[in-house]
Amino acid sequence: MNFSFETTPRILCEQGSARRLGELARDLGMRHVYLVTDRFLHESGLTREAEASLAAAGLRVTVFADVQADPPEGSVEDAVADAVAKGVDGVIGLGGGSSMDTAKLVALLARTPQPLPSIYGIGLAKGPRLPLIQVPTTAGTGSEVTAISIITTPTSEKKGVVSSLLYPDIAVLDSLLTLGLPPRVTAMTGVDAMVHAIEAYTSRVKKNPLSDALALKALVLLHDNIRTVVNDGRNADAREAMLLGSLFAGMAFANAPVAAVHALAYPLGGHYHLPHGLTNALVMVPVLAFNMPVAAPLYAQLGRAMLPSMQSADDATASAAFLDAIRKLVAGMPFEQTLRGAGVPAGDLPMLATDAMKVTRLLVNNPRDVTYEDVLGIYGAVL
Ligand SMILES: NC(=O)c1ccc[n+]([C@@H]2O[C@H](COP(=O)([O-])OP(=O)(O)OC[C@H]3O[C@@H](n4cnc5c(N)ncnc54)[C@H](O)[C@@H]3O)[C@@H](O)[C@H]2O)c1
Ligand SMILES: [Fe+2]
Repeated sequence: MNFSFETTPRILCEQGSARRLGELARDLGMRHVYLVTDRFLHESGLTREAEASLAAAGLRVTVFADVQADPPEGSVEDAVADAVAKGVDGVIGLGGGSSMDTAKLVALLARTPQPLPSIYGIGLAKGPRLPLIQVPTTAGTGSEVTAISIITTPTSEKKGVVSSLLYPDIAVLDSLLTLGLPPRVTAMTGVDAMVHAIEAYTSRVKKNPLSDALALKALVLLHDNIRTVVNDGRNADAREAMLLGSLFAGMAFANAPVAAVHALAYPLGGHYHLPHGLTNALVMVPVLAFNMPVAAPLYAQLGRAMLPSMQSADDATASAAFLDAIRKLVAGMPFEQTLRGAGVPAGDLPMLATDAMKVTRLLVNNPRDVTYEDVLGIYGAVL
């Protein structure tokens, strides 16, 4: 079996580790840090410990708190121009996927200028980049261990910059930063991480023994803890299990990429600015059901890992139990359950299906070939 596997070289998982950002940044040679976050996180005080730690280590800090959700191209370009003007020499992303994805591109483009639209796709970016630390506050996108940054273009498409240059130098998991994440966001981001694990495990092209092991472990951690953190956000150990699950899922899908769930989710994010996790949650069950005729043996393996009662079940039983468990889990989550409920007009489905078919970067990874009519049917199933 031939494969290659890459990930973030240094990972620190410790409750309260935001207090160690000063020493970590200094280890990487940073003297003037660009701290990339969003307005809410900055104003609610979530960045305070990180800022204090950096100051205590004698580092200058410039905070950029203008990250936009599903970062639009222009907002990233503004951040890059600001970072260059301020003369920073290192970047820390602290926040959800939107903050971390913005931070990745600031680290790259502030050091090696190149037009952002010219690097959408795989392996087109040129380096080097500035030193980069990522601190996730959702669990999550796994962006702290992926080589991907997802941007919204001026034509409302979601495009990815994929480059090994975007793996950060250090990922810091501090579950105390996630205790205040509201139940709705906890649920949506947790389901996003579960989709990463499932789609990595069934990825058609680059699935490999390492991504498989990580995806299985991720799914078990996420499945076993998501209800706990939605109901009791202040459970630090369950929050840490979710962060780890999100990290493992990120490591898996960075090497065995996601597929049709994400391809169908992207147009919903691009056009209606629905949260990324919600868009995945909406289309997840019908996409898995669509894949079942081809992916049943793999879904059975996921079912056996996730559900103790299925450990010795045959493929048909375990794969059906897997899909049923996912259906029930999603149905019990505190977010919208239909496209209409999320504000998507029925008349838009053909346009959405056309856009989803353009996400060939991801559709090629789906275990079953997908046509325009299939996509229309899947959207129709959750209307
Ligand atoms: N790079 C990747 O590998 C990758 C993978 C999946 C998704 N993404 C991208 O990531 C983005 C979504 O990221 P996300 O789901 O983390 O959402 P996000 O970063 O947009 O944050 C969602 C909301 O949660 C709030 N929030 C974040 N942490 C919080 C906390 N600890 N307490 C209270 N509120 C908190 C934020 O302020 C924001 O309002 C999308 O653009 C998506 O396309 C990237
Ligand atoms: Fe995702």
